[in-house]
Amino acid sequence: MNQLNQLNDQKMLSGKVALITGSGGGLGKAIGLSLLEAGASVVLTDLLLQEEDASKDKVPRNRHPLVFKMDVTRPEQISKVVDEVTERLGVVDILVNNAVMPGFIETEIVKSHRPEILERVKNVTAMKRLGRPEEVTALVVFLASEFSSYMTGTAIPVTGGADLFVF
Ligand SMILES: NC(=O)c1ccc[n+]([C@@H]2O[C@H](COP(=O)([O-])OP(=O)(O)OC[C@H]3O[C@@H](n4cnc5c(N)ncnc54)[C@H](O)[C@@H]3O)[C@@H](O)[C@H]2O)c1
Repeated sequence: MNQLNQLNDQKMLSGKVALITGSGGGLGKAIGLSLLEAGASVVLTDLLLQEEDASKDKVPRNRHPLVFKMDVTRPEQISKVVDEVTERLGVVDILVNNAVMPGFIETEIVKSHRPEILERVKNVTAMKRLGRPEEVTALVVFLASEFSSYMTGTAIPVTGGADLFVF
């Protein structure tokens, strides 16, 4: 299958194993669900995550993420999770650990800022709005796929043009 067909098929990450840290909510969870849609086997991990939290989410039919409680500041927890994931799914191919540079994206934590702060942010953003989680997840799926095979060691801002202004 050529790359464009794969893109249409939305299964360009089939056979890959993806582990996302801090994915109990917000961007991490949105990224995990997008990688699942793209065909990857997905492992959600978070300090606060419980198995039942993920089961409430809409996931592609017959496809569920593995869910682990894991604190990224505790190396022994990371080793334990990685060992179990490797045994159950194979080696982790994709690690999402704050790999993109978002501007202000509408997650619960951002929406909890005072309205005047959010207005100020919108005013200094070229697109005059906050970002949506799916505008970050699309980039993560691309970066995790063969489409980005000649990209490495770089940062891609997803900021709605906030970085075009000098604060
Ligand atoms: N949303 C934005 O606009 C924005 C902008 C810039 C940077 N970021 C960064 O992107 C990341 C995700 O943002 P978000 O809006 O989804 O935030 P969020 O608060 O909704 O999600 C962060 C998640 O990380 C988990 N977490 C915190 N400490 C942890 C630890 N030690 N080990 C494992 N999990 C831990 C939390 O439980 C939570 O589920 C954050 O690091 C945030 O600072 C977000």
